[in-house]
Amino acid sequence: MNIEEKVRKTLAELGVNGAQGVESLFAELQKSAEAERAQLIARGAPNQAQAEKLGKALRDRWLARNGGLLSQVDEYWLKPAGKDLKPAVGRQFNELRRFTGELEFDRLIQALPLHKEACPPTELPLASAAVRPAPRDLTLPGLRRPLGSIHPVTRMQREIEDIFLRLGFWIESGPEIESIYYHFDALNIPESHPSRDDWDTFYVDSKTVLRAHTSPVQIRAMEKYGAPLYIIIPGKCYRHDNPDSTHSPMFHQIEGLAIDKDITFADLKGTLDFFAKMLFGEKVRTRFQPSFFPFTEPSGEVAVSCFVCDGQGCRVCKQSGWIELMGCGMVHPQVLRNGGIDPDKYCGWAFGLGVDRFAMVKHDINDIQLFFQGDVRFLEQFG
Ligand code: PHE
Repeated sequence: MNIEEKVRKTLAELGVNGAQGVESLFAELQKSAEAERAQLIARGAPNQAQAEKLGKALRDRWLARNGGLLSQVDEYWLKPAGKDLKPAVGRQFNELRRFTGELEFDRLIQALPLHKEACPPTELPLASAAVRPAPRDLTLPGLRRPLGSIHPVTRMQREIEDIFLRLGFWIESGPEIESIYYHFDALNIPESHPSRDDWDTFYVDSKTVLRAHTSPVQIRAMEKYGAPLYIIIPGKCYRHDNPDSTHSPMFHQIEGLAIDKDITFADLKGTLDFFAKMLFGEKVRTRFQPSFFPFTEPSGEVAVSCFVCDGQGCRVCKQSGWIELMGCGMVHPQVLRNGGIDPDKYCGWAFGLGVDRFAMVKHDINDIQLFFQGDVRFLEQFG
């Protein structure tokens, strides 16, 4: 059976029922993607138009949203996978996405080597044998199309995702237009409780909001997968803030959620300390201070020692020696109950961080608006 046929069958139909089988199926896909790319580069294309056509065909075959091999893996392997296989399939799927991302099919579309003879005749444009190309003036400057670059916020998001993927978390997402129930009630923020005002929320109607944080997806994921659960949730959020150098009405968060038996605050501290060291360097220290969120108890704010001045005080840490990273805490038992999980059997921790802020700190950017103005002179610095 070739891979096209395989991705159109469910894991059950393929007779795969263990993590090992899942792993080798995905390994086969990775190998094919890599081999097809290498083959295309080795073969090259006779001209630019053909290079673009071949490059695009390869990209679409793997990555097209509709009918691409990855979208079918999502449809036939991931979505219908049973509860026991889902985490393994999710993890492998994320890995495959990362891997195919790294193959940079988009680049091939621009940069496939051009050599006339190398292409098999069937791939040549029909007229090319008859039309004699005019001799080229090799002294003319070449045609160069500017390549795009990955947006610095996306890049930051991926960097953070990679750290948690390596720890065995997988990526979940949820709607940006959210019901009051998931956004507030299920997160233990009752109507009339003053803390609802902590989130300057845009209301679509009296029962619907533009989410002001990614925490509602905690409940959705608990309902969908049950426990144990190790996920991160990246996504856009919206708040009724006036745009200035540190506020934007649209911004990005990453939520983390770990639920299992016997999870303690020490697991939370250990994981976030490891995360900070992976992102900012081995020598940074983390600081946990008490805080309040209605959906965690106890709650905390995490800061990291400034990776620029090592805590001495500088512009990046505003002379404080510390950089605020995120809010976190142990998931409130009522929140677990609302997600359908028995708090007598399971417990967990959660955190929420602002991706844009991370990117600003990392690149020493002093105005969040720069991310969303689309000025190529700013964006191309992060290629
Ligand atoms: N959702 C909180 C916020 O947006 C952050 C948070 C997430 C805090 C998870 C604790 C646990 O402010």
